Amino acid sequence: MKTTLSIIKADIGSIGGHIKPSRKLLESVREFVNNNGKGLIDDLYVSHTGDDIALLFTHQKGTENEDVHKLAWDAFVAGTEVAKEQGLYGAGQDLLKDAFSGNVKGMGPAVAELEFEERPNEPFLFFAADKTDPGAYNLPVFLAFADPMFCSGLMLSPSMAKGFKFTIMDVGYTEGDRIIELNAPEDLYDIAALLRDNERFVIESIHSRNTGEIAASVSTTRLHNIAGKYTGKDDPVMLVRVQGSFPATGEVLAPYSIGHYVAGFMRGSHTGPLMPLRINSPVSYFDGPPMVSCHAFCVHNGNLTEPADAFDHPFWDYVREKVSRKAIELREQGFSGVAMLPYSELEYGGIVEKMKRLDKLFKVRG
Ligand code: F6R
Ligand code: MG
Ligand code: MG
Repeated sequence: MKTTLSIIKADIGSIGGHIKPSRKLLESVREFVNNNGKGLIDDLYVSHTGDDIALLFTHQKGTENEDVHKLAWDAFVAGTEVAKEQGLYGAGQDLLKDAFSGNVKGMGPAVAELEFEERPNEPFLFFAADKTDPGAYNLPVFLAFADPMFCSGLMLSPSMAKGFKFTIMDVGYTEGDRIIELNAPEDLYDIAALLRDNERFVIESIHSRNTGEIAASVSTTRLHNIAGKYTGKDDPVMLVRVQGSFPATGEVLAPYSIGHYVAGFMRGSHTGPLMPLRINSPVSYFDGPPMVSCHAFCVHNGNLTEPADAFDHPFWDYVREKVSRKAIELREQGFSGVAMLPYSELEYGGIVEKMKRLDKLFKVRG
């Protein structure tokens, strides 16, 4: 029997701006799934990262299952009613379509799913990021699965000796899923050449080349491309199986010590360092900094253990200080140059109008 892990996540309203969902909202979503998911899902874990609520389901229905996706959609619709009743800010923000149609992909919520035959013990990590987009995972996932400087298992473990296959999506293409499959280590430079562009090319999934098994799945939604205008950042989720023929938990976590600069932050329009935070953390400085949390679980016969909070350790306090410094250093130059995203990535249409108006005022001196 195969187990499926499905993370479906959406921003359906929050307290005090885009800080965090209310307790009542989280409770209402949990209750909806508990009341309506019987016979469909095996287990549920509800959490938030910044203003986003993530539902982690275990079930046996496989990926992209209509009933499972509909359950999440309906839970978010029901939650939106509570968000409206409470007057939460941005109620229903990520629900971009009026009616559910088969799959929540392309409707606003972010989705990451893994289907696999459980190992006798099955540890996995669930990452959730806020105030950034799916390309934020490019660098840390590349380093964890392809660089022996971060993943010593690539040198030391025979079960990882063949490396990993990267499936990368061109998220600039909106007619369908445009993907490429490349193998590490042979195609390392090609993988790097694509992944340097976090806004265009995004890791979708990783497979072990030793066993063929799926190792990781990332949500690749770009809300910008669905709505054609600013509706919030994409705030990506990711599932990663760890240990054995996959990188160890610590190898997957290690690259987050960099605090690399990603797109997002205030109004989804700036550059900021990605801060690894404790689970259920709120948003703060300059509507950020861009943040990532990590729940570590084991799943057995479809049942989840309680999570361990992977970034809740004194080591990460030190990293958070470094990332705070990096955030302030870049923020000191405000809107200038690399501190703000290029024109094509700015999430507010207002600037387009402004530029059109200014364009007419330019004169070419004779
Ligand atoms: C970024 C984000 C915030 C908002 C900002 C303005 O993802 O959610 O930075 O862009 O708080 O919010 P609005 O436009 O809703 O007033
Ligand atoms: Mg968010
Ligand atoms: Mg939001």
